[in-house]
Amino acid sequence: MASQLLLLAFLAITCSVAFASDPSSLQDFCVAESTSSVPVNGHVCKDPKLVEANDFFLSGLHLAGNTSNPAGSKVTPANVAQIPGLNTFGISLVRIDYAPGGINAPHTHPRATEILTVVEGSLEVGFVTSNPENRLISKVLQKGDVFVFPVGLAHFQHNVGKGNAVAIAALSSQNPGAITLANAVFGSKPDISADVLAKAFQVDKNIVFDFQAKF
Ligand SMILES: *[C@@H]1O[C@H](CO)[C@@H](O)[C@H](O)[C@H]1NC(C)=O
Repeated sequence: MASQLLLLAFLAITCSVAFASDPSSLQDFCVAESTSSVPVNGHVCKDPKLVEANDFFLSGLHLAGNTSNPAGSKVTPANVAQIPGLNTFGISLVRIDYAPGGINAPHTHPRATEILTVVEGSLEVGFVTSNPENRLISKVLQKGDVFVFPVGLAHFQHNVGKGNAVAIAALSSQNPGAITLANAVFGSKPDISADVLAKAFQVDKNIVFDFQAKF
């Protein structure tokens, strides 16, 4: 009995470690030194004596992104590319603006779970599971509602309100990455062969060429 409890405790501890995201820090901070050519997982550290407040700072997230584009949405990032002080901390932020009817097209973040809150308007959101295969988990969110998109899963947002919508989302990586499914499949350079895509999507090759021209 006691040994079973010990085993359970051991499993609980080791499992929580296995769920960690970006590597944890071994120093106060490691402000990204973007001029270095040394290839590491992340960025090398700027001399801490030269670090200043602006390394941890970004302004302008109160400004609406320009949603005049085919998707009707704009993602404004606040990750390590904008804030070098985020390097090694496993966290970042985005602001997303949506015109009425606008979408943030189905995409995945290979390195981050996302937690999103609606600060204006209402959004239909959803993600698709891998196990059980391809189950859609979706919900309509109002101002102040919060929703989670698990790491790696395809997800989207859709402005279903009458006016503009705005969301702020936090992501569990300094560099979450985004793979927009339509662009990855139909907009790769060079193209994936139309034979492959016609068979994968069970459509005529001309339909594939149409999509490839769009993305
Ligand atoms: C928004 O983007 C559109 C399309 O690129 C452009 O024509 C327009 O000038 C932009 N508007 C602002 C306010 O920047």
